[in-house]
Amino acid sequence: MTGFSAQWLDLREAADQRARNRKLQRALAKHFDAQGRLTIVDLGCGTGANLRATAPLLGRDQHWTLVDRDQDLLDAAAQRLRSWADSADRKESQLVLSKGGKRIDVEFRRADLAGDLEAALGPKASLVTASALFDLASAAFISGLARAVANRQAAFYTVLSYDGDQRWTPEHASDAAMLDAFHTHQRRDKGLGPAAGPDAPATLSEAFSAAGYRVTEGDSAWRLGPGDATLIAELAGSFAAAVAETGLVNASTIATWSALTRAGAVVGHTDTLALPSHPDREVRRPSRDAETAG
Ligand SMILES: C[S@@+](CC[C@H](N)C(=O)[O-])C[C@H]1O[C@@H](n2cnc3c(N)ncnc32)[C@H](O)[C@@H]1O
Repeated sequence: MTGFSAQWLDLREAADQRARNRKLQRALAKHFDAQGRLTIVDLGCGTGANLRATAPLLGRDQHWTLVDRDQDLLDAAAQRLRSWADSADRKESQLVLSKGGKRIDVEFRRADLAGDLEAALGPKASLVTASALFDLASAAFISGLARAVANRQAAFYTVLSYDGDQRWTPEHASDAAMLDAFHTHQRRDKGLGPAAGPDAPATLSEAFSAAGYRVTEGDSAWRLGPGDATLIAELAGSFAAAVAETGLVNASTIATWSALTRAGAVVGHTDTLALPSHPDREVRRPSRDAETAG
């Protein structure tokens, strides 16, 4: 199992928020405009960053279920959401938050998505969402999820799926070999089957189109620069560690590559919004929205 530390998720949260595709955010907000209480399930919630970024786009009355297999991250999510909210109370097992005039009830569900996905999703949802999750999941898992979401006629919105584009400034002669090895690592089984890795956006798009959904994609690349030195250094370190685990690049090349200080990095991501098609309408092919985030 691959673990994620709360510190790493904290470090990336601001970059993630900056990178989210604005046009898809507006489309999501429009879809739910004027609807009453929304039931939202966030898969692989980590420390709750997806709620903090998505809840402001939605209506005044929201019920969130945050799902993760890692109890430490669920505990960190509860703590960070309390700090983020204008006010927070505990009501039975739920956190009742008030933020910007919205009421946001939050339940925490410890579950491994590789087990009972139906139980993880719960019986009904207006929206199933996730952030930075699906590059860890297999095509089979994603297809099963698309069917489960379609059975609930829920909307689906996922952000920051890695898309295979990774560029460093300055460049290094071993960048291409390192990236190939990194992608081999990305495709390893992380607990949800052989991972889609950089194919995650295309796999999501195909699975939700096949389930009869209208799919829109938007660019959400990280474009990191001088203000992101800590994140760039952490990113380069974990990238090199993943490459080393594959054994595909020799240790001295990895050491030389790692010795270079990077001033910038681009990491390609895609956001995906999939909405149930009206049953009388033809299913549309997915369209790629090229608007850059930010
Ligand atoms: C890259 S982190 C993203 C966390 C959070 N969504 C964010 O954007 O900050 C992936 C998250 O998925 C969770 N996760 C990975 N595999 C899982 C599984 N099989 N079942 C439940 N949670 C899983 C991890 O524990 C981690 O919190």
